[in-house]
Amino acid sequence: MDNLNETAVMNVVIIDEEENSRSIIKNYLCDIEGVLVSSEFSDYEQGCSFVLNAPKSVIFIDTSYNNEKALNTIKTIKENKKDNIIIALSNKTTTDSIIKAMRAGAKDFISKPIVKSEFSELINKLKYELLNPIEESPCKIISTFSNKGGIGKTSIAVNLAVELAQMTKEKVALIDLNLQLGDVATFLDMTPPFAMDYIANNISNLDKEELLKTMTRYKNTSLYVIADPLNIDSSQDITAEQIKNILNELKKIFSYVVIDIGTNIDSKTITALNMSDLILLVAIVNLPAIRSTQRCMEMFEKLGYTKDKVKLVLNRYMENEDIKTSDIEDVVKQKVYWKIPNNYLTMMSAINKGVPVNEINPSSNIVQNYMEFASKLSDYLITQSIKI
Ligand SMILES: Nc1ncnc2c1ncn2[C@@H]1O[C@H](COP(=O)(O)OP(=O)(O)OP(=O)(O)O)[C@@H](O)[C@H]1O
Ligand SMILES: [Mg+2]
Repeated sequence: MDNLNETAVMNVVIIDEEENSRSIIKNYLCDIEGVLVSSEFSDYEQGCSFVLNAPKSVIFIDTSYNNEKALNTIKTIKENKKDNIIIALSNKTTTDSIIKAMRAGAKDFISKPIVKSEFSELINKLKYELLNPIEESPCKIISTFSNKGGIGKTSIAVNLAVELAQMTKEKVALIDLNLQLGDVATFLDMTPPFAMDYIANNISNLDKEELLKTMTRYKNTSLYVIADPLNIDSSQDITAEQIKNILNELKKIFSYVVIDIGTNIDSKTITALNMSDLILLVAIVNLPAIRSTQRCMEMFEKLGYTKDKVKLVLNRYMENEDIKTSDIEDVVKQKVYWKIPNNYLTMMSAINKGVPVNEINPSSNIVQNYMEFASKLSDYLITQSIKI
């Protein structure tokens, strides 16, 4: 019974105080083949002790009313039965409640009242994932992030991706997750025939070769790009689930996936951040930017990200800044991992010409810096994977 591959049955346990809600879930599940509701509970403690002694299961836990108890139950199950999958349910869909549930160990979050089509889609996807576990791949996902605009996230994502491709000669994917008005395609002067919306809608039907063909290759390098949708409206239809599916498929093909993550904190951003091996948290040396970096770090701590996963990067750095690096480290409570020098002329010239900085002036300080950064990151990631 323990192995889903052998039994091809997905065991489900429901822990929800509301009888009506349990009935709805059971009702929806009856229509799905290969799913067995092994038990249901209105009491968290009883539910938890059942799960701890039961075979691998998917557990639905309501967090709407008895939030603390529910979160503790999620934590206990996750700590003791790591391979179980927990889906949090709630009638409150604030960012804070989603973050808390995910931090406790929930894999996904469903809002109440439950919509049948969304629910069935999630169950079918879980069944597929359980029966077809993703092979471990050496691919590493690196994201650039800041909750402030204009800080250099896109510049860093683009130039690092280019350097990683040129240095390692391995396949590198560059993804624009600024789904409304991203800049990656402009930075590389591309007009991709397919963008994120097309790939999101078709990801389940694309094999590896087709996926690669829908991405846009940068010149004759090993860098492939997925740009933001041309049409702003279609970006709203892209779901966190689709982002996750895309990243899982990319992991099978690429050695590195670099994501330029938008400033919005939503379920898509959190999915990408969760899936990242390394988050480059970008800051510049001024008080508002440092303050928002500190807030980001607090959010990352809440999400359970380790210091190994989040690295603080200072962009546009100048020697003899008024604020010392050690002061920033004290405020953000994180060591500065990398500093990128301020070089406005080279950077602007690259952006205006739609090329990476190494095509403007290969001997400039910023190009040297990006080369060293890419080399450090690839070594870092190799060391990390050896450790694992
Ligand atoms: N190292 C640098 N030195 C000087 N200027 C830089 C540097 N890096 C980026 N810039 C400049 O900062 C500006 C913002 O850069 P970029 O678009 O990469 O930021 P962003 O965080 O992606 O912005 P947005 O939030 O709008 O997406 C650009 O004009 C760019 O030229
Ligand atoms: Mg940007």
